[in-house]
Amino acid sequence: MSEMKETEAKRPIMPDAGADNRPLVELTHVEKHYGDLHVLKDINLTVRKGEVLVIVGPSGSGKSTMCRTINRLETIDSGDIRIDGKPLPQEGKELASLRAEVGMVFQSFNLFANKTILENVTLALIKVRHMDKKEAEQLAMDLLARVGVDSQASKMPSQLSGGQQQRVALARTLTQDPQIILADEPVAALDPVTARQVMQDFVRINKEMGISILLNIHHVELAIEYADRIIGIRAGRIVYDGPSKQVDQAVLNAIYGDDTETEATA
Ligand SMILES: Nc1ncnc2c1ncn2[C@@H]1O[C@H](COP(=O)(O)OP(=O)(O)O)[C@@H](O)[C@H]1O
Ligand SMILES: [Mg+2]
Repeated sequence: MSEMKETEAKRPIMPDAGADNRPLVELTHVEKHYGDLHVLKDINLTVRKGEVLVIVGPSGSGKSTMCRTINRLETIDSGDIRIDGKPLPQEGKELASLRAEVGMVFQSFNLFANKTILENVTLALIKVRHMDKKEAEQLAMDLLARVGVDSQASKMPSQLSGGQQQRVALARTLTQDPQIILADEPVAALDPVTARQVMQDFVRINKEMGISILLNIHHVELAIEYADRIIGIRAGRIVYDGPSKQVDQAVLNAIYGDDTETEATA
């Protein structure tokens, strides 16, 4: 194993002591079409270090697409996306290393069904960060404990509740030592009580580790409760970008139009 890998492997996962306010993700004049469908319209958005930012909007408004462009799961037609000041590369090693800064959590958890909870978390530490098994297991247990599921380590994913599985997915994302975690509807598959617990996990990770959080949610009340800042998107356009405390009925009307009652509380 090369010396460089050795150093990389030993890089500790630590709370970011010097949490500043710098822009971590910057989208400038981003445009995207799917064929004739204009899905992202002049998107300008800055996510700062340490922020919890929640995107809300009606179904089909472009929330998932916007999330996916940020780690280049989707390409854009024009505009500019920067991660920590660096333009998002087209492909190759540079893209892989920038992607590592951006952790991703999905609605469906995406755990390996045939591996234990512990193995789900140690896998990346061993394969990607080249840790030895014992070191990987120690760190994995620490990360599982951060989200309160360390007692489940030897179980299989199917033996866990949805909320517990989502927490494991969050712990696994933390193995990347990301600067920001993107989450596409991470609580949509969960009951209301569990959804709140998982939202609290995201906020705790944010506070304890200084990791920025950008997530999509269609439950606007949860968004207001847990976000520092809300982005409201309607038909591919940002119609609100401001503190969650300032989201009032007028803002909700701008985002959801006449469908506020049904869409916002669905
Ligand atoms: N891969 C795709 N190909 C074509 N159209 C798509 C694709 N993904 C999403 N869309 C369309 O783009 C619009 C925005 O979708 P999406 O970003 O998933 O919205 P949201 O997450 O807010 O529900 C929708 O009209 C959707 O049908
Ligand atoms: Mg979506």
